[in-house]
Amino acid sequence: MRSVRCRMDPGSCPLAASTGLYLTVKVKIRPIDEDGCRGALQQVWAEAGLSTRPRGRDHPEALAEQLARDPDLLLGAYQDEELVGVVQCTWDGRKGFVNRLAVRPACHGQGVGRALLAACEAALRRRGARIICALVELPNDPSLGLFEQAGYVRHPTIVYLSKRDHPEV
Ligand SMILES: CC(C)(COP(=O)(O)OP(=O)(O)OC[C@H]1O[C@@H](n2cnc3c(N)ncnc32)[C@H](O)[C@@H]1OP(=O)(O)O)[C@@H](O)C(=O)NCCC(=O)NCCS
Repeated sequence: MRSVRCRMDPGSCPLAASTGLYLTVKVKIRPIDEDGCRGALQQVWAEAGLSTRPRGRDHPEALAEQLARDPDLLLGAYQDEELVGVVQCTWDGRKGFVNRLAVRPACHGQGVGRALLAACEAALRRRGARIICALVELPNDPSLGLFEQAGYVRHPTIVYLSKRDHPEV
């Protein structure tokens, strides 16, 4: 269990809305459960403004399949039982990837993203990863700040290429 200082969601805490109150809360990082794959996860991504592929690889069924296959690689930050942050790790046997890292805006800047990234790295290292990578769509200073603070290095000479069966995949 990790303790982070997290601003309460004004929607769920009227006192916080009127006072801007900050409370210290316990955030637990653990695998996302199957229900989470079918609603809460997409809600966190949407609130965080993350661009996703809900009709492709981020479809609830695709996520549930990943969960069944790699339950340790789809992680959530839970404040009590509420999902406030998520990260999806992938391991291809050669490299580990950090994908779809997102934290609800009400909890930004309180260490939740850093805790999720550390948990993702630990899970990938347990699989044998010795190199961990992330793709960041620019501009995204918070994400670049988080990764660089955690020791990741930019590769300005690398260009991302992809070949898609259809635009939503
Ligand atoms: C990127 C994101 C996950 C960071 O989560 P967070 O919980 O707010 O981050 P943390 O509080 O753990 O911050 C850790 C470090 O990240 C960096 N960081 C966080 N917010 C930042 C910002 N707005 N600008 C620059 N750096 C920032 C800082 O280095 C920070 O360390 P510090 O607090 O000691 O300065 C969050 O901003 C988010 O959900 N963004 C929208 C979704 C997204 O773009 N995801 C990344 C996809 S690649």
